[in-house]
Amino acid sequence: MPTLTHCRDDFPILQRSVADGIPLAFLDNAASTQRPQSVINAITDCYERYYANVHRGIHTLSEESTTRYEKSRTSLARFVNAEHDHEIIYTAGATAAINTVARSWGNENVTANDTILLTIAEHHANIVPWQQLAASVGCRIEFLPLQDDFNIETDAVRSALERFQPKMFAFTAASNVLGTTFPVTEWTRLAHEHGSTVLIDAAQSAPHQVMDVQAWNADFVVFSGHKVCGPNGIGVLYGKEKLLEAMPPFLGGGGMIRRVTTDGFEPAELPDKFEAGTPPIVEAIALESAVEYVTAIGLDEIEKHEQRLATHADTGLRQIEGLRMIGPETRDRNGIVSFVLNHAHSHDVAHALDASGIAVRAGHHCTMPLHRALGTSATTRASFYFYNTMDEADRLIAAVAEVQKKFAPTGRKRQPRSSG
Ligand code: ALA
Repeated sequence: MPTLTHCRDDFPILQRSVADGIPLAFLDNAASTQRPQSVINAITDCYERYYANVHRGIHTLSEESTTRYEKSRTSLARFVNAEHDHEIIYTAGATAAINTVARSWGNENVTANDTILLTIAEHHANIVPWQQLAASVGCRIEFLPLQDDFNIETDAVRSALERFQPKMFAFTAASNVLGTTFPVTEWTRLAHEHGSTVLIDAAQSAPHQVMDVQAWNADFVVFSGHKVCGPNGIGVLYGKEKLLEAMPPFLGGGGMIRRVTTDGFEPAELPDKFEAGTPPIVEAIALESAVEYVTAIGLDEIEKHEQRLATHADTGLRQIEGLRMIGPETRDRNGIVSFVLNHAHSHDVAHALDASGIAVRAGHHCTMPLHRALGTSATTRASFYFYNTMDEADRLIAAVAEVQKKFAPTGRKRQPRSSG
């Protein structure tokens, strides 16, 4: 049984060193997480023992693969607390899942008179598909702005819903830059009161917090496998049965039909209707293993541990002169800590941290509109997961302080007030 205390031993990649023998501190988990041995084993086990295409063969391997593929769906339905297994659609990732909703639900339901409401904190994956929809049907897109404290108050959400009466309110459960988490249940309830359909981008919350799509009452929820210790190339689209049933299939091909003639086709039932072509078979089986792993560690424990690390890093980094934190000081936070240094570009910061064995992400993190609103083109982002340690948070603080010193124009040695 994996535990928070001993989990690092389960991750072969965390044992390696980088930068001439320095132990790796992997703080780029918002971009992608690492995999425990059990997930790696699930992948090799499938390829070594029972891999075949699913839903297509009458032979033993295909039946075994199909059983395991569908068992994964059942586990994922439990993981998010969906009412029905067939409300879980496997896609290529969270991006593909949002595109499915924007194209399939959007084309059916959104017209030129309608508005899509987003927040300015959205990842491009939850902006561009709606812009593509707008280009095709002529609808408007409105953005909820960020307050000075890097949050969005529920009153602002209420006012925007009243003013725009959006057909869709699509928002992130947790920002991939700010670390801010939003009250999904409350915002969903408000949106429904105003007649809006709701899509929640849970890419940055599914790996870190207990998910309950029924309690949220969201219409659509998406997340990706690779951010929750699973493989890349797979994501989840949860949709309420009634909505998914009413939607036309997005991709056409094998597997998603009941019947095809030279005149047309009749789509299959859920979930097959939305899974055209050979689905991510091994990825789904390994994703089941990943959610079993994080569930065994405990999502509540994971959330608390990351909050401790992020709060510690946040407090220490704020002591560095010339460092601006891009995220609220007191907040319902996740494990993300982003900042800018006054004298060093984020790419230089990330490069220098890499030389200290610390992996972070630098740039706009696929949130150009958010960065523009923040008045910067790039930030440096450290993102913690449950396998990170306090020692790694301290290494981050000390290394950033060194970088700031190194890039200070006068060469004057600045000392951080505290290394945290
Ligand atoms: N969405 C991922 C990130 O924020 C890739 O880094």
